[in-house]
Amino acid sequence: MSLLIRNIKTLVLAEQNPRRLVKGADMAALPLLHDAFLLIENGRIARFGPMPECPERAGQVLDARGRLVFPSWCDSHTHIVYAASREEEFVDRIRGLSYEEIAQRGGGILNSARRLQAAPEDDLFESALRRLHEVIGYGTGAIEIKSGYGLTVESELKMLRVIRRLKAVSPIPIKATFLGAHAVPLEYKERRQAYIDLIVNEMLPQVAAEGLADYCDVFCDKGFFSPAETDQILQAGWRYGLKPKIHANELGYTGGVEAGVANRAISVDHLEYTGDAEIEALKQGDTLPTLLPSCAFFLGIPYSPARKMIDAGLPVVLASDYNPGSSPSGKMSFVVSLACIKMKMLPEEAIHAATLNGARAMELETELGSIAVGKMANVFISAPISSLAVVPYSFGSNLVERVVLQGKVWEPPVRQ
Ligand code: NIG
Ligand code: FE
Repeated sequence: MSLLIRNIKTLVLAEQNPRRLVKGADMAALPLLHDAFLLIENGRIARFGPMPECPERAGQVLDARGRLVFPSWCDSHTHIVYAASREEEFVDRIRGLSYEEIAQRGGGILNSARRLQAAPEDDLFESALRRLHEVIGYGTGAIEIKSGYGLTVESELKMLRVIRRLKAVSPIPIKATFLGAHAVPLEYKERRQAYIDLIVNEMLPQVAAEGLADYCDVFCDKGFFSPAETDQILQAGWRYGLKPKIHANELGYTGGVEAGVANRAISVDHLEYTGDAEIEALKQGDTLPTLLPSCAFFLGIPYSPARKMIDAGLPVVLASDYNPGSSPSGKMSFVVSLACIKMKMLPEEAIHAATLNGARAMELETELGSIAVGKMANVFISAPISSLAVVPYSFGSNLVERVVLQGKVWEPPVRQ
């Protein structure tokens, strides 16, 4: 089984010596190979190089004249298992309510939790699978999915079982994250510790016993979980072998970034509120800063200071945060556009952040995230475009012409 892609105008992120992560100033130096070929065998990248060295024969051949070939986007932060959209809150926000005000009166995450608790598992699976196929069509080739709209033992497990079913049928790798600490349910409002005890003593042991999660998340922020509460939950997660990957500093300077670094989190995500202290903390550890600009866009909150982070030498990651409340979109090319337009990242930096660094934030960097011999052949072929910068520039277009997953051209499933 082989696939040869010929006459590629530019092969993006083609690495002779695969890196595991790209930091700081290196993020602007994107490896590009012009007038290239890419040979895929048995689902893996077998060879690439300049067209004059292109092999003569192969099984299937695609001509990519005028087109760019990219490694698939690696979207390391999503919540695509949910029961219903929340456009009524969207309208409330247009009328002047804030995200936090909506949450305080029992809307927001708690609204999604009520609806998810009532939803049959099969319906959740079907709608999440549709969203998965949607984002694959936009070029996503690996994805992380969180629980966190269950907020009871039974419903958190239901969500994670849906993610397990998605893993079983998905054409792309999926990582599952347990987010029981997404919000404190109303019935626990006056006894928060009892909910944390439920997470630690009931949810985590069952999640671990069934092997349902790869990571443990906490929404460590104003009005949600404090750094001390986050410590308790993340330390319990570690006891079950679940590495932390947390939400932090979306709503204020709350100590979330420091809590993530102190707990050796793989990543701290959001970071709309990041000052010198947070950057200093990130420089001291290996925790990755993951930025979610489509959330800032949708909620009208400040964008993360990506430039300051890159200039400080940090390895920035970009992800979509696809969820019904703060980012009802999983289109990674739009995330890349926002990163460039609103956070002043260069196209090269944004592409590194949304591919190789995203893969690293899911511990998949040796498998995905760049074009390197031996890696899984998840790539996409663009429409004919004049240069790389057209991808973020054309923020409303879908420039993904063809998706290749494990060396096979992917066809979107036909739905009734
Ligand atoms: O990453 N901030 C916390 N969690 C999600 C939003 C969840 C929701 O509003 O439903 C986020 O933005
Ligand atoms: Fe999120």
